[in-house]
Amino acid sequence: MKVVTVVGARPQFIKMAPVSREFRKIGIEEVVIHTGQHYDYEMNKIFFEQLNIPEPDYNLGVGSGTHGYQTGEMLKRIEEVLLKEKPDLVLVYGDTNSTLAGALAGVKLHIKVAHVEAGLRSFDRRMPEEVNRVLTDHVSDYLFAPTETAVKNLYNEGIREEVYLTGDVMLDALLYNVRIAERKLKILDELGLKPKKYYLATVHRAENTDNRRNLENIINAFIKSNDLIVFPAHPRTMKALKNYGLYEKLESAGNVLLIKPVGYLDMLMLEKNARKILTDSGGVQKEAYFLRVPCITLREKTEWVETVEDGWNVLVGADEEKILNAIKEFEPDGGTYTHKFGDGKASEKIAKILNGGV
Ligand code: UD1
Ligand code: UDP
Repeated sequence: MKVVTVVGARPQFIKMAPVSREFRKIGIEEVVIHTGQHYDYEMNKIFFEQLNIPEPDYNLGVGSGTHGYQTGEMLKRIEEVLLKEKPDLVLVYGDTNSTLAGALAGVKLHIKVAHVEAGLRSFDRRMPEEVNRVLTDHVSDYLFAPTETAVKNLYNEGIREEVYLTGDVMLDALLYNVRIAERKLKILDELGLKPKKYYLATVHRAENTDNRRNLENIINAFIKSNDLIVFPAHPRTMKALKNYGLYEKLESAGNVLLIKPVGYLDMLMLEKNARKILTDSGGVQKEAYFLRVPCITLREKTEWVETVEDGWNVLVGADEEKILNAIKEFEPDGGTYTHKFGDGKASEKIAKILNGGV
């Protein structure tokens, strides 16, 4: 069986790592297409180096651009590779433009499509990711849902065949790598941090970076908290901070440690030892939950509702007062942890289903 995997953005490299490992174990042939959506060393190569992911067989070099440009170029170039490689299946992850382009290229050539992280919904169609999720799910032949909520969302949209509740591949990745990270890395020493004496922040969602007011509210709350906040900034966010004149404000505040994006192993250590995490990332919300670290989500809605239901995550949007209040006050009540993301064997299940099912 021959699978073409299409990836392009940071979280997809992390998600594919455990699945590729399982493919190698059971002898599934995998050809990897990297769309080139993310290309900076810290957003791209570092993950291939650290996570033992197969080097991409094709890098399409699409890079950045508008949604139409990016998705269109990817579609065109992925199609060429699929025509050449003639795989049995196209495998896509998550909800980025690379996901949608891979799924569309596959289905139009009548190649079966499998979607890992199927069924997630924020019910906010202004998010580009929500559109990518809905469209990808509706053209997929195999839908690997990480949670029961995801299965229900698919059911409600009439997708009821070939839906598999596998658990979350990001949990597999975290469980596998957290011990490696603990052994190898000294990021806390390097940055002069003490466990549980700092907060960790990431921001990159379009709704927060393309909107000056939202980004300024977030930055103001960080500064006013007067707490030490480590902030590995996505290149998109770094550019927005500079464009809006907020970079200098943040630098001169003194309590925010603005750094480049870090590798996954460093990120796990920063997350595990943080007092609380502030983020608008989907993956980071989950990792906070897996590591039992309180999470303050800088969005109005989340597709990872389980983290909120269990009390580990609170949604505050880009509201300065709410963010500040959550930094000072938010504590998970009771500390419920209901293991709604599986048993850490999602990747093994996915590989086995694909091996037997195509
Ligand atoms: C994309 C995904 C988002 C995902 C995120 C993971 C879409 C629509 N969005 O958002 O769902 O959460 O990746 O991180 O697919 N840039 C660089 N260097 C890079 C990559 C990006 O400088 O290596 C800058 C460019 O200015 C670019 C901007 O970041 O225009 C945005 O990049 P893009 O890939 O379009 O979207 P992300 O915000 O990264
Ligand atoms: N991540 C990382 N370094 C960073 C920021 C995030 O390795 O500086 C990891 C994080 O641990 C998680 C994934 O990237 O596994 C989340 O990706 P991102 O926030 O870019 O996208 P999203 O999950 O929102 O789609």
